[in-house]
Amino acid sequence: MPVQKPHQHDLSRRHWLGMAAASTTVGLISQPWSFAQQPAAEGKQLIVRGELPMNAEPELKHLVGSWETPVKHFYVRSHAPVPKVDLASFRLTVEGLVDRKLSISMAELADRFPVTEITATLTCAGNRRSEHSLVKKVGGVQWAAGPIGNARWGGVRLADVLRLAGLKAEAKHVWFESVDEVEKNGRTFPFGASIPLSKALEKTRTGNAALLATTMNGGALPPDHGYPIRTVVPGYVGARSVKWLGRIVVSDRPSANHYVANAYKLVTEGSQEEWKAAQPIYQFPINSAICNPAAQARVGRGKIDVSGYALPPGDPGRTIDRVEISADGGRTWQRSKIISPAREYCWCLWQAKIAVSTSTKQLVIRAIDSAGAVQPETVDWNMKGYLYNAWYRTPIQVGA
Ligand code: MTE
Repeated sequence: MPVQKPHQHDLSRRHWLGMAAASTTVGLISQPWSFAQQPAAEGKQLIVRGELPMNAEPELKHLVGSWETPVKHFYVRSHAPVPKVDLASFRLTVEGLVDRKLSISMAELADRFPVTEITATLTCAGNRRSEHSLVKKVGGVQWAAGPIGNARWGGVRLADVLRLAGLKAEAKHVWFESVDEVEKNGRTFPFGASIPLSKALEKTRTGNAALLATTMNGGALPPDHGYPIRTVVPGYVGARSVKWLGRIVVSDRPSANHYVANAYKLVTEGSQEEWKAAQPIYQFPINSAICNPAAQARVGRGKIDVSGYALPPGDPGRTIDRVEISADGGRTWQRSKIISPAREYCWCLWQAKIAVSTSTKQLVIRAIDSAGAVQPETVDWNMKGYLYNAWYRTPIQVGA
């Protein structure tokens, strides 16, 4: 199986602008953006879970072909239609608790800041939600284990942009606001997120820090993934990586946007008090999944090939140490082989040959990280089905 090597190199300004120009279909519109009702994500090979807005995930077998997930197999999770942005009039603004407000065009961004690349995994907080629903039905997109992908993101560091704006002493959180338009309960508002300032300024050993991204796997950021610019916050659930970014606000508190104040929280009853008291979800937890064989696959007895992904928790420096597989319901475990880089904030891919017999009813896996933390056997139910990371189980049918 080919596994791509990680890249960590600078992109030239020309490359950046080339990428920006490559996917612009700019009409003579007075607004910097309009909204495209796109029934299907162009060029994608995904299982569509919802069309307007687009919510789609790959078949699991497509996730283990390479460490860097091809765009065509990269999940799409959108709460509103894709805005079409006119680059000529587009400005990213930075405001709030800063010494000077910024209003920057894409060309100016590339001029003023070093352009760089990181590799980071994005995963939806609702990854594996359908397994939560087996315990008790939860609302929302019934995701399998596919809303996850690992990509090479190019752009400028959020920290560099914030430093140019200058941070006031009271600054504690950084808000991101999209130019999209979510319609909910009779209100129209943009998707938003916020992250603690310490995360925005994070310096990690690998340099895998928050990015304002304009490229994905070396190509222009596709419309579904946030063209022309999005945040990528390594180690955090995908909801904090805001697509079609239009505004950054530095504040002394988390954003009041619906997706921070009222959603993406772990609650079990859903009373107003419980929602209010619950803290926003930030880091993703350790997780893993079997991508091959598929659930209910018929296999012959003997040794079979098993492969999948494992994600370390979103703590700085934590990597996957090993992935263990059991063919007897968790009584005995066998170690798999990690076949990709294993880095902080990135998934790794693994493979194993496992002996199965006619009495084998399912394969079970669990991941263990570099700090010795083990993926849990079970997780507590929550009414939005977030952060499901119990041992992954794949039922199989073994023939004689
Ligand atoms: N940004 C905007 N503007 N609108 C959205 O609906 N969805 C978020 C995040 N950023 C979203 C967004 C969620 S919930 C996830 S999981 C990721 O984008 C998905 O990113 P992707 O579609 O590029 O895979």
